[in-house]
Amino acid sequence: MEKKISIAIDGPAAAGKSTVAKIVAEKLSYIYIDTGAMYRALTYKAIVNQLDLEDEDVLLETLLSTVIKLQPSDKGQLVFLDDRDVTNEIRFAEVTNSTSYVAKHQKVREEMVRRQQAFATEGGVVMDGRDIGTHVLPGAEVKVFLLASVEERAERRHNENIQKGFPSDLEKLKEEIARRDKIDSEREVAPLKKADDAVEIDTTSLTIPDVVEKIMVLVHERIG
Ligand code: CDP
Ligand code: CDP
Repeated sequence: MEKKISIAIDGPAAAGKSTVAKIVAEKLSYIYIDTGAMYRALTYKAIVNQLDLEDEDVLLETLLSTVIKLQPSDKGQLVFLDDRDVTNEIRFAEVTNSTSYVAKHQKVREEMVRRQQAFATEGGVVMDGRDIGTHVLPGAEVKVFLLASVEERAERRHNENIQKGFPSDLEKLKEEIARRDKIDSEREVAPLKKADDAVEIDTTSLTIPDVVEKIMVLVHERIG
């Protein structure tokens, strides 16, 4: 039987991580884990309960009593928070712009990493995030770091919003993405960073199938 490996996909906001990770997972019949959705779900709960996003202990205590479930479906991956479907809510702008503050805390990250590693004990997983290749799955057989210019990434999010019928301001998106990248890259604990053994792919002028193909080449080099 073909060996089941782990694939880590990291990179800044809107680089295309979840889109390509999902397709790669489908092609290989692997599970796909969106770790950003886990940080978003906790942030959503913290906002709803008006918690102090700077209070690490309160956030950890909340996380420890929270069940976050990721469930594949025909409509894409569904996210459940204590059995409530919050797939749409966790993409709201307020959640998007607050998640980097929640994700800065060491104790929160330790618990998230523990849960993420538990999904990957048997291999056969494609996981995307910011610290997968560096901290969550340092032994992943394939590690990819996706990049794209901030202009291109803002444009992608903008088009996505328009398609979904959401209000969208391109300049504001550019600022928000740049601010989030800065917080994620400069935090002390597990910052956004390319793992030394990750393959960097600049997707600025690549299509989604182009990026998927490049990753599949790396996968086939490992599994034959
Ligand atoms: O989809 P997008 O790139 O906009 O964001 P996401 O992957 O859903 O992640 C949202 C936020 O969660 C990021 O900006 C990070 O602050 C945090 N995050 C993290 O710190 N570590 C991860 N492994 C995944 C996400
Ligand atoms: O997960 P992450 O935040 O890195 O990005 P995403 O949500 O997968 O992708 C953001 C948007 O860019 C989606 O609408 C993708 O369809 C689009 N995209 C693209 O236009 N070209 C690529 N090479 C990759 C993604």
